[in-house]
Amino acid sequence: MQEIKNNEEFYYPSESVIKQAHIKDWNELSEKANDNYEEFWGDIANELDWFKSWDKVIDDSEKPFYKWFTGAKTNIVYNCIDRHLSDNRKNKLAYIWEGENGEFQSLSYFALYRETNKFANVLKSMGVSKGDRVTIYMGRIPEIVISMLACARIGAIHSVVYGGFSVEALHERLEDSQSKVLIVADGAYQRGKIVPLKEIADEALQRAATVEHVLVVRRTGQDINMEFGRDMWYHELMNMPFAKNKCDAEEMDAEDPLFMLYTSGTTGKPKAILHTHGGYMVGTYATLKYVFDINDSDRYWCAADPGWITGHSYIVYGPLLNGATSFMYEGAPNFPYPNRWWQMIEKYGISILYTAPTAIRGLMRFGDAWPGRHDLSSLRLLGSVGEPINPEAWKWYHKVIGSEKCPIMDTWWQTETGMFMITPMPCVPLKPGSGTRPFPGIQMDILDEEGKPVKDNEEGYLVIKTPWPAMIRTIYKDPDKYVEQYWSKYPDVYLTGDSARRDKDGYYWIIGRVDDVIKVSGYRLGTAEIESALVSHRDVAEAAAIGLPHEVKGNAIYTYVILRSGVNGSKELADELVKHIAHEVGPIAKPERIEFVDSLPKTRSGKIMRRVLKAKALGLDPGNLSTLED
Ligand code: WT7
Repeated sequence: MQEIKNNEEFYYPSESVIKQAHIKDWNELSEKANDNYEEFWGDIANELDWFKSWDKVIDDSEKPFYKWFTGAKTNIVYNCIDRHLSDNRKNKLAYIWEGENGEFQSLSYFALYRETNKFANVLKSMGVSKGDRVTIYMGRIPEIVISMLACARIGAIHSVVYGGFSVEALHERLEDSQSKVLIVADGAYQRGKIVPLKEIADEALQRAATVEHVLVVRRTGQDINMEFGRDMWYHELMNMPFAKNKCDAEEMDAEDPLFMLYTSGTTGKPKAILHTHGGYMVGTYATLKYVFDINDSDRYWCAADPGWITGHSYIVYGPLLNGATSFMYEGAPNFPYPNRWWQMIEKYGISILYTAPTAIRGLMRFGDAWPGRHDLSSLRLLGSVGEPINPEAWKWYHKVIGSEKCPIMDTWWQTETGMFMITPMPCVPLKPGSGTRPFPGIQMDILDEEGKPVKDNEEGYLVIKTPWPAMIRTIYKDPDKYVEQYWSKYPDVYLTGDSARRDKDGYYWIIGRVDDVIKVSGYRLGTAEIESALVSHRDVAEAAAIGLPHEVKGNAIYTYVILRSGVNGSKELADELVKHIAHEVGPIAKPERIEFVDSLPKTRSGKIMRRVLKAKALGLDPGNLSTLED
């Protein structure tokens, strides 16, 4: 099945894969889409239900504030659920769920419809209405999906905060979004322990003034504080007379906001990326359909967390829009043993697995015997996302997990893009480590500092040159920042923040972030978030954070700290600072190392030169130092 072409290693899909694929000829589709991408997206949009059709597929009159499907009315949740009830999918499973403790639950499309409606009515009874913000903070349990869908059904804007974030991260997001309601779980199971989500939320709520109601899902069952008049149990509310079984989906304008999701950018605090009902719906629907080739016999598992964009687009919206059956698992991949994932693939007959390189590398470390004990033959497609996948991990995934018969969809995209942008489809030849080419209808390029396309195999700035339906609409409450961060380096071109190269076959190879974003285990963190957590400690005067290569995590965080005068660095203090960061931001932001220093390299205008720190740590030439102050 392997062939050598142009002296490079291509992995060709087998005939049976191609036979089943929605798209059998990438070039044909690409040409059609690139010729007229308005028509291409319009045709796909017509596969979904609209209360009223659009006047225009795309309106660029106020670019870069692009609008899609203007004049149209729809509701993404109507398309996720209601559409399937008359579609013979009423009894089909929408979700199969396993808890870390082995508990099991499944939800048919009809059950999801009922639970979503009931909870939508609960939210309404709390005074939540169209345009209100609701923050959701819990682990990977079915209620997170129900909460998101219930918000969207009544036109409220959800803001999911990843359950691995902690007090300050949650507080900032509650405050910035001015959320009226917080939906939280009492706790989450993680490696047999309980993450006390409600307790963390209580602390964050002391600093957040806008939250009127806290709705608490019981998951872990330990004693928690319930504040009278503010906190209410989800299961009690769902049994109230107002939690009626029916709640019509609110008619939304295609451009009405669906959700906001915070992510780290170049400077300062995380910013809320805003997505809408219409375009986001069309983009996630089409990409999942074509790339993962979803059909009714699949059992699809996206092992991400719903708290990140991967979960929003490809655990919740994309799969439901396609009427798919998804599997969801609450816990860690290697708990209690390193075969947990493989065991569940066998047990549930999973056919598509979509995960991150860090998880693959982490499981690869335990050796081939663990997956070898299980029958993984139900798998037919694999996926990867979040960071570049090194060829070694790719090949292991392909051989040991996919028995050399499952093509790997290495999908490049971002919180901002909402949907896959550079991605293979099952019908295309693959190169380990490359996401192949831009999705049909999307023009991308790699530019140099002056905005000229670079030559083959040269590194440059990865950009997007045509608008796409699931694109970010703005940064919530900060449209200027939206323009500045994404659209100001080159005219009319979207800047991704990544560097990349393209080979002679037109395949894209992502190199990494060129801004102050660090990808740790696929999680996106800003140097500013880590630094501000450090300086919020009483002993710290100044701090700098950088990412350095790490075998499993991709990148690990290294920090340099200047202490306040009179304070001495010690092992104990370093440990305390690590704990402090975990408490403020979350365990994912824990640095690998804290080094106490007397000074930091800065420009004359006082900006920390992180590239100098990085070069020094790696023993490399720091490059041009002419702007260095000292
Ligand atoms: C950044 C976006 C979008 C899902 C999860 C991440 C990196 C993402 C890949 C990939 C190489 C990748 C990029 C991108 N990235 N997918 N397949 N190959 N790099 O979303 O947290 O918004 O991060 O993740 O650097 O800019 P995100």
